[in-house]
Amino acid sequence: MKILLLGSNGQVGWELQRSLAPLGEVVALGRAGDGRLSGDLSRPADLVATVRRLKPDVIVNAAAYTAVDKAESEPALAHTINADSVACLAAEAAALDAWLVHYSTDYVFDGSGDRPWREDDATAPMSVYGSTKLAGEEAIRTSGCRHLILRTSWVYAARGGNFARTMLRLAAERDRLTVIDDQVGAPTGAELIADVSAHALRSAVREPGLSGTYHLAAAGETSWHGYARFVIDEARALGLALKVTDIAPIPTSDYPTPARRPLNSRLDTSRLRERFGLVLPDWRSGVRRMLREVVQ
Ligand SMILES: NC(=O)c1ccc[n+]([C@@H]2O[C@H](COP(=O)([O-])OP(=O)(O)OC[C@H]3O[C@@H](n4cnc5c(N)ncnc54)[C@H](OP(=O)(O)O)[C@@H]3O)[C@@H](O)[C@H]2O)c1
Repeated sequence: MKILLLGSNGQVGWELQRSLAPLGEVVALGRAGDGRLSGDLSRPADLVATVRRLKPDVIVNAAAYTAVDKAESEPALAHTINADSVACLAAEAAALDAWLVHYSTDYVFDGSGDRPWREDDATAPMSVYGSTKLAGEEAIRTSGCRHLILRTSWVYAARGGNFARTMLRLAAERDRLTVIDDQVGAPTGAELIADVSAHALRSAVREPGLSGTYHLAAAGETSWHGYARFVIDEARALGLALKVTDIAPIPTSDYPTPARRPLNSRLDTSRLRERFGLVLPDWRSGVRRMLREVVQ
């Protein structure tokens, strides 16, 4: 099986290089490509040329425009990367009869209520990022290609930029942190996403009826404030010297950002767990593991 992996330097893409390796020949491309093949999603025509040249059996797209606030002022670029290029990948996958594995987000929902979102709940993105990610999903679903769209949330990894690492940096610099406590979700490790992707892909290539959209997040839930406290307490327990003494909870309304974010980011993962026979561990176990890697 030949697998084209795009976005190979991102949090999830980096882990996919590892988890996809046992499934076949992986051609991993970052934004810069490899000199011969383009991996740049801001240039859809070049991407099409890459797919036509490689003729993969599977395309795994971990690349995305993920700067949620910046997307509000760069909607055209975000749309090209998150929707137009994804539509091209889907069309090429359909023409090749290849699988497309793609990642999306809880930000396709409006965050109302407190029930975990199911895959077929109505979408209503609140931000440019969320809208462009939804447009990418819809292009895949209408293309007719066999696909796994995996919606995830609050991604972290030992490598790359994420909330947990930002909290560790700020906790070392400041006495007091204020952190939002009315947005609720599940921090989900790039390692877990990559491992589940590989398992799900292996099942799906044997059973094409598994093609579809799935929610993939760690079990349990917390707020950003609960997450920050957990990260800081665990890092201290591992011996990291941190200056912070006060981690104060604040409402979203006290922390205005260019992009609006959903309050309810809970994802119901039962479809994925049941159809693929997989277990999703509690969010704390993966965060603890990541901290052991990060805290020397
Ligand atoms: N991060 C989250 O909290 C979160 C939450 C829900 C869903 N997701 C989704 O999960 C997936 C993986 O996210 P992640 O956390 O791994 O994101 P990430 O760490 O920000 O990685 C995204 C990757 O996309 C690449 N990229 C950006 N523009 C590109 C372009 N024009 N051409 C090619 N590559 C480009 C980046 O390349 P550079 O390294 O060169 O910048 C980066 O390697 C995405 O689909 C994202 O929407 C993420």
